[in-house]
Amino acid sequence: MQDDTIVIRGGKKLEGTVKISGAKNATVALIPATVLAGDVVTIFDVPDIADVEALTTLLGELNVKVTKKNDHIIIDPREIKNATLDHEAVGKLRASYYFMGALLGRYKKVKIKMSGGCYLGPRPIDLHLKGFEALGAHIDYDDGYYMIEAKELNGANIYLDIASVGATINIMMAAVFAKGRTTIENAAKEPEIIDVSSMLNKMGAKIRGAGTSEITIDGVESLGGCYHEIIPDRIEAGTYVILAAACAKRCKIENIIPQHIESLLMKLEEMGVKMDIGVDSVVVYESHDLKPIEVKTLPFPGFATDLQQPLTALLTQAIGISKIHETIYPERFKHCRELALMGAEIEAHDGSSTITGPTPLSGAVVTATDLRCGASLVIAGLIAEGETTIKGAYHIYRGYDRIKEKLKALGADVR
Ligand code: EPU
Repeated sequence: MQDDTIVIRGGKKLEGTVKISGAKNATVALIPATVLAGDVVTIFDVPDIADVEALTTLLGELNVKVTKKNDHIIIDPREIKNATLDHEAVGKLRASYYFMGALLGRYKKVKIKMSGGCYLGPRPIDLHLKGFEALGAHIDYDDGYYMIEAKELNGANIYLDIASVGATINIMMAAVFAKGRTTIENAAKEPEIIDVSSMLNKMGAKIRGAGTSEITIDGVESLGGCYHEIIPDRIEAGTYVILAAACAKRCKIENIIPQHIESLLMKLEEMGVKMDIGVDSVVVYESHDLKPIEVKTLPFPGFATDLQQPLTALLTQAIGISKIHETIYPERFKHCRELALMGAEIEAHDGSSTITGPTPLSGAVVTATDLRCGASLVIAGLIAEGETTIKGAYHIYRGYDRIKEKLKALGADVR
């Protein structure tokens, strides 16, 4: 168990190289997806984050053997048993809902206590459930438990009213063994969806079109095992690029897919951040006189909602008024109050925030109310004069692999 407070002494210029880890939002789907496998699955580049611990605990509840070795995990589901998932680990992350689709796909039956995760305003799962129903499942909800069951699962045409990442992946997993063809229209196009479909296909699934708005799944009888390497984390990458723009002399962010963060890189260029964009890395140089910008969060390939919070910390240093319009989670602005405690001039209401800069930031005691709020406060703490104490750091450890070590290697004073 890690300490729940991060203390940063800010104002230092960072320098060096940081290597980005495997994508959290792919990992949290890939681990539940292994319950569909008929044989051993080895996953490489698994980030060392608290969410992985919680999900492997849940695999244990299902009698799936998990062996961790350096950066990979070996998952053996050959003795798997379907069990009610109500271990406290379920409530630690919202993505435990991926066990719904995976167990429904494998056993046509799942009972799970509903999940937690970051509070970003209402986060319904109606589209996941509608998808399961379209495949033939019956859903009951009682006393905090979802019971989802089907006599048989049959392929269906499913149109998602919103291109939801979670619903797309959950329905994809539930449909892997369904009889016939399932089509998901208006599917989400995030890179993590391609990663999950490519792992399932390596096991023997027949999924086409992941990464486009129409995904087709032809049901198969069984799946085997596979080796799979997780894609780099585009949100961790974006966070370090923003962090470097805020306080680095020269910083190389490596093991990234620049196309995955193109919308961020273009916005940073608009701000005047000096960068060299390579094939799998970005070098960020010290930049001055940053310009204010306007950003609208959108589904991929638009500007990621997960990066608007870290970006806000940088925007406090731009000269003029910046605006963020949040279209995915209109209440995702808890970081603004915390940044204001450090001296930022921010207003947030009606799904938008207005940041007036530049304002000097000074160390304060602040709280990470959610994962990306935490990332925003880390960046602000690195910019600020004096000492910043970030409480609720467990949110940060949920999604950022060895963040203290990575920052220390860049010369940050963090403990
Ligand atoms: N939505 C519905 N009904 C549903 C599902 C979603 O109305 O059944 C709405 C949501 O309320 C939201 C929008 O659709 O307004 C998009 O939600 P989506 O389902 O795409 O989000 P998610 O799958 O719950 C994932 C990431 C989030 C990221 C969002 C948006 C994971 C585990 N989580 O969430 O990541 O913000 O997509 O890109 O993949 C984070 O990493 O900090 C994080 C919160």
